[in-house]
Amino acid sequence: MRGKGYTTSISYDRRLYKEDIAGSIAHVKMLAIQRILSSSDAEKIISGLEVILREITEGLFPWKEELEDIHMNVEARLHEIIGSVAGRIHTARSRNDQVTTDLRLYVKSSIDTTLMGIKDLQRAILGQAEKNISVVMPGYTHLQRAQPVLLAHHLLAYFEMLERDKHRFQEALTRVDVMPLGSGALAGSPYPLDRNFVARELGFSRISSNSMDAVSDRDFVLDYMYASAVLMTHLSRLAEEMVLWSSEEFGFVRMGEDHSTGSSIMPQKRNPDFAELGHGRSGRVYGNLVGFLTTLKGLPLTYNRDLQEDKESLFDSVDTVQSTLEAFTGMLEDVCFDS
Ligand code: ARG
Repeated sequence: MRGKGYTTSISYDRRLYKEDIAGSIAHVKMLAIQRILSSSDAEKIISGLEVILREITEGLFPWKEELEDIHMNVEARLHEIIGSVAGRIHTARSRNDQVTTDLRLYVKSSIDTTLMGIKDLQRAILGQAEKNISVVMPGYTHLQRAQPVLLAHHLLAYFEMLERDKHRFQEALTRVDVMPLGSGALAGSPYPLDRNFVARELGFSRISSNSMDAVSDRDFVLDYMYASAVLMTHLSRLAEEMVLWSSEEFGFVRMGEDHSTGSSIMPQKRNPDFAELGHGRSGRVYGNLVGFLTTLKGLPLTYNRDLQEDKESLFDSVDTVQSTLEAFTGMLEDVCFDS
């Protein structure tokens, strides 16, 4: 690929539009309160941003691939709507503190969704444990029959793993919950900003303390990716048990029709595709973590364009985790254990 196309991120970072606009509105409100911007300029900018938000949600926004990213697309459109006042939005702000603010907001809301997905799966596990409360099965070590156990006992082991996964995401939430705006490009800003006001507006509980760290830190992305990798390991083990147990050799469980596929040539088969894809997809979530660790290692402070590589792999982990949690919740609600 020749030319600027190589450097753009708009094809995927448009996903951050809500966070980007919310961040800009909070920033401009604060500039007006601090009398850095006149209130009439601030009002113009905010109403322009609200128009843009509507355009995007209604699918009417004129996306321009030649404008690198979501920030530039929004800003260029703001110019078209309100004229040169739009440029004032960049008073005391750089794309470097803007992009990381957007991404922190995005990770925060992704963690909320992931936590809900984990709780739904835990409910499905609990449901099966209750339904099969007196079912006895062989417990294994070394995949050799060891001692009789209750099926519920076995299933609830996964409930516990998921409980720890929730804690890992909750802990990640405390670290991502930091507001970086005011860091500027790297060295802060000479304007009398009220960063705590912006943090409150955006729902962050703290502000960052070191501007050079704030614009270059992406640990919060790694935290999400790591918690996801461990979660996928647990889901993958559960998946493998479903694969084994649904085989004719074990015959402990029958997968529901909506969560398995038949074979046209061998009609007796019910392939556990959901479980198989669940463990197959753990590979991408691990890959995202290792890939992004590798991107970060050896980067000098502060912002480097390499950091743009945080988004695609994060989005992929978020999507994979979310869809796997949903699929497994459905799969578990739909299985029938041999009693
Ligand atoms: N698209 C960039 C990213 O995602 C935004 C920040 C660009 N900053 C810069 N100084 N070029 O990282």
